[in-house]
Amino acid sequence: MRAVAWHGKRDVRVDDVPDPTIQEPTDALVRITSTAICGSDLHLYEVMGPFMGEGDILGHEPMGIVEEVGSEVTNCKVGDRVVMPFQISCGHCWYCNQGLNTQCETTQVREEGMGAALFGYTKLYGEVPGGQAEFLRVPQANNTTTVVPEGPDDERFLYLSDVLPTAWQAVEYAAVPDGGTLVVLGLGPIGDMSCRIAMHKGQRVIGVDMVPERLQRVSGRGAEVVNFDQVENLGDTIREMTDGRGPDAVVDAVGMEAHGSTAAHAAHTVIGMLPDKIAEKMMQTAGVDKLSALYAAIDIVRRGGTISLSGVYGGEADPLPMLTIFDKQIQLRMGQANVKRWVPEIMPLLTDEDPLGVDDFATHRLPLEEAPEAYKTFQEKADGAIKIVLKP
Ligand SMILES: NC(=O)c1ccc[n+]([C@@H]2O[C@H](COP(=O)([O-])OP(=O)(O)OC[C@H]3O[C@@H](n4cnc5c(N)ncnc54)[C@H](O)[C@@H]3O)[C@@H](O)[C@H]2O)c1
Ligand SMILES: [Zn+2]
Ligand SMILES: [Zn+2]
Repeated sequence: MRAVAWHGKRDVRVDDVPDPTIQEPTDALVRITSTAICGSDLHLYEVMGPFMGEGDILGHEPMGIVEEVGSEVTNCKVGDRVVMPFQISCGHCWYCNQGLNTQCETTQVREEGMGAALFGYTKLYGEVPGGQAEFLRVPQANNTTTVVPEGPDDERFLYLSDVLPTAWQAVEYAAVPDGGTLVVLGLGPIGDMSCRIAMHKGQRVIGVDMVPERLQRVSGRGAEVVNFDQVENLGDTIREMTDGRGPDAVVDAVGMEAHGSTAAHAAHTVIGMLPDKIAEKMMQTAGVDKLSALYAAIDIVRRGGTISLSGVYGGEADPLPMLTIFDKQIQLRMGQANVKRWVPEIMPLLTDEDPLGVDDFATHRLPLEEAPEAYKTFQEKADGAIKIVLKP
């Protein structure tokens, strides 16, 4: 089959690889019909190289049709239309029973000391072949599939794989009180959808980014927006908009590749050029992550407020301003989204009325064969790209 494979920094290719097969009685085999590129894939494209193997199949936002199931699979059958969560979880362990699928005890990557395995996401997360491919082997298929109805186009349900539950959890963890205000840093797919969900819940929303079409798209749906490139001091600007106090909560939908610190950018470039072993060590210990979005969130949030991190961070030795965090009594909540936990709450919003605007959320739909150009376009935020869906 054809699949999108990692070959090095900013080097993904569409390769011929062996078709996956059922290996365990709990596996399903799915023929992929739509598969999106995520901001998290850009970390693999750029800074997470030390944790990748050449030829690793990328992608964790897939949906398609079940082709074959193992003998213990009961959640779906051949011919069903399914969407896969980005994480692989069993649905019956202690953590899954708490709604913490990201920590699933059946799929935890213990050799690396990490949580649940993810599709297409580095050795840290089990190096499981991903879903930017014609076919996908789905382990733990009883919980790692959601069966969706026939009828609407794929994109009605595709974002149940990641964008919707991630944004839902971001807003949930932000815990904005009634009548309160939420600031969302970063208006990529995750930040944009977080704004939509928070507005749907009746919150006042202020979105922050620097890319004009991303700001426009969010303001077009009724949020206030700030272009952080055009203000002297982002914290002061937001405080002026919020009675001098700051918002009740901030969602960081940027993560470790924030713009705004040229020194950190230089460090990332250096690390990308080092041999894997040394680079891996530096990524884990040297504290080179770009923390500018998190620093901005700490400054912006009101005293006693909450910061909800959905942007991915990966360093093991990042300096944080503990004096300020402690003195402002900030609550910090974070993590990968527990996808299956939120699906039942989101599903009722995926109707013909389409209150969250999922049907036209994608800006680009391209054949799988065009993945190399698609990654480049998405990373450069060129051609108005906000969300790209690949069609195998
Ligand atoms: N927690 C999860 O489960 C989960 C799931 C999916 C994605 N993510 C993470 O969420 C983040 C966003 O994903 P995405 O798909 O929207 O990616 P994206 O790269 O398209 O979006 C990031 C946005 O942040 C903006 N930005 C950069 N620096 C900024 C700054 N200092 N202040 C404000 N905005 C800034 C960029 O212009 C861009 O629009 C990524 O870190 C991704 O890895 C987490
Ligand atoms: Zn993702
Ligand atoms: Zn589990």
